[in-house]
Amino acid sequence: MSEWWRSAVFYEIYVRSFADADGDGIGDLEGIRSRLPYLRELGVGAVWLTPFYPSPGADHGYDVADYVDVDPLFGSLADFGALVADAHGLGLRIVLDIVPNHTSSEHPWFRNAIADPEHADRARYMFRPGRNGGPPNGWTSAFGGPAWTLDEKTGDYYLHFFTPEQPDLDWHNETVQRDFEDVLRFWLDRGVDGFRIDVAHALFKDQDLPEMVEPVPRTWNGDWLVALDQPELHSLYRRWRKLADEYSGERMYVGEIVLADQNTVARYVRPDELQLAFNFAFLNEAWDAESMRPMIDRTRTALDAVGASATWVLENHDVMRLPTRYGGGEDGRRRARAAALLLLALPGAVFLYAGQELGLEEAAIPDELRQDPIFLRTLGERTGRDGCRVPIPWTGEAPGFGFTTGSPWLPVPASWADVSVTAQELEDGSSLALHRRALALRGESEALRMGSFVWLESPAGALVFARAAAGETVVCAVNVEAEPFELPDGDLLLASELGGSRELPPGSAIWLRREEKRR
Ligand code: NOJ
Repeated sequence: MSEWWRSAVFYEIYVRSFADADGDGIGDLEGIRSRLPYLRELGVGAVWLTPFYPSPGADHGYDVADYVDVDPLFGSLADFGALVADAHGLGLRIVLDIVPNHTSSEHPWFRNAIADPEHADRARYMFRPGRNGGPPNGWTSAFGGPAWTLDEKTGDYYLHFFTPEQPDLDWHNETVQRDFEDVLRFWLDRGVDGFRIDVAHALFKDQDLPEMVEPVPRTWNGDWLVALDQPELHSLYRRWRKLADEYSGERMYVGEIVLADQNTVARYVRPDELQLAFNFAFLNEAWDAESMRPMIDRTRTALDAVGASATWVLENHDVMRLPTRYGGGEDGRRRARAAALLLLALPGAVFLYAGQELGLEEAAIPDELRQDPIFLRTLGERTGRDGCRVPIPWTGEAPGFGFTTGSPWLPVPASWADVSVTAQELEDGSSLALHRRALALRGESEALRMGSFVWLESPAGALVFARAAAGETVVCAVNVEAEPFELPDGDLLLASELGGSRELPPGSAIWLRREEKRR
C-alpha cells in the first residue's frame, strides 16, 4: 500500500468559482475538466470538489437535495464521469465533499417529514418538543439566530446547526446510517478516490441536548460544542473505513473536525478510522513563530501517537484569504509566500485552496452583492465568506477574467488583472511560479515528502527545521518576525523572495539542500 494521502498535496476547488464552461457566470464540472492540465502543471496530486449535488443553494451546495446526482447548474453525471476519467488520466485523484450532518429542507425526506408528521421520514431529523413556550434549548445556529425552527403544524421544533434550510439529520436513526452507506458506494462505484466529510465531528448530538456551561469557547459552534464529538462517531467512521477499504485504489476520508485539541482530533484518525483530519488549530494561528512552533509540535505529537499523518491547511472556502489575514498589502503577500514554503515543507499532507497559489487577497464585495447566508442572517454583523469565494482570474480581461464569458456570480476586482494566471505565468518571481517550483521540488524530494523532522537552532521569531531521507537533507528556514539572520549551511533550492542575500529578512523563507545528512 502506498498510503498516498500521507504526503499528498490536495487542491480544493470551490466549484462555483473555478471555471465556467457554459457562460452562466457560475463555475461547473466542464469548466473544471478544461482546467485539469493547469492543475497537473501546478503539481498537486488530488482535487477536492465542494458539493455539486442538486441543491436550492441556501448555503451554495452545502444544502443537498439529492446526494446521488449533479445539479444541472454544474453539469450532469456524464460530465462527472468525464471529469473523473480525465483527472485519472492525468494522474490526479478526485475527492468529493459529502454533507451528512444535514440535508436541504427541499430534500424529499424533509418534505415528507414536514408534510406528514406521521411519516417515517420524520424520524430522520431532530424534531423535539419546545420548552417553556420556546425552543427545546438555547443553542444558536453557527450562522446566527436560534438553532431551532418551529414546525407550526405540530408545535415541535427542528434542529439546524446552520440555516433553517439545512435541517440536521438524526444520526441515531439507523435508516439514515444505511442510506449514507449507499451514497458512499454510489460515488465509490463511480471511481472517486475519497471524501471530505463536512462537519465530521457533529453528526451525533448528545440526546440530552445539554446546554453549554459558560464560558463559551471561541469556536463557530461554541454554545453547543458540549453536545458534539460523541463516541458513536468512532464506530460510524470505522464502518465507513471498512466500506471504503472494500474498494481497490486506496480510497480515503478527510474529516472536517472543528476541534482545537489535537489529541481529540487524533482519535478520529486512529488506524481503522479516517485517514486525515483538517488541522484547524494551525489554520487559526497568527503569523507568530512563537505560537506556531508549539502548535506544530502539539500536532505532530498527537498524530504520531496514533500513527496518522498531520495535515497543514492555511486557506479554505470558509476563511479570509491568507495575505489579508497576515496583515494585507505588501507585507501580507510576502508573508503568504513565506508561509507557502513552510506549509509545503512540514511533514504530512497539505491542502491548498484554489487561488492560494496566486496569492489572491480577500476581495471587497459591496454589501448588496453579498450572498453568504452568514452575512444575510446576521444582518451584516458578520461579513461572511464571499470575499474568499470570488472566481479565479485566469486572464486579465474584465468582467469575466477568463473564468466566464458571462458575468461572474461575484464581481472580480479590477486589480486582479495583474495577478491573473496569464499575468503570473509571465513573471519569474510570481506567487504562481513559487508554488509550481515548490511543488515540483516536493515531488522530487523524498526528504520533503516523507523525511524525518527536526528543529534546528534559530533566533526567536524564526522557524528553522530539517527534513531528511535517503541521504538528502532539506532545511526550511522561515523568518517570521526576527531580525534578519544568517542562513544555515546548504545550497539554495528555493526562496520566497528573489535576490541572493545570505541573510533572511522578516516575512521570508528559504529551502536549502545539504548533500549529507547532518543534525
Ligand atoms: C462547513 C463547510 O465548509 C461550510 O462551507 C458550510 O457552510 C458548513 N459546513 C455547512 O455545511
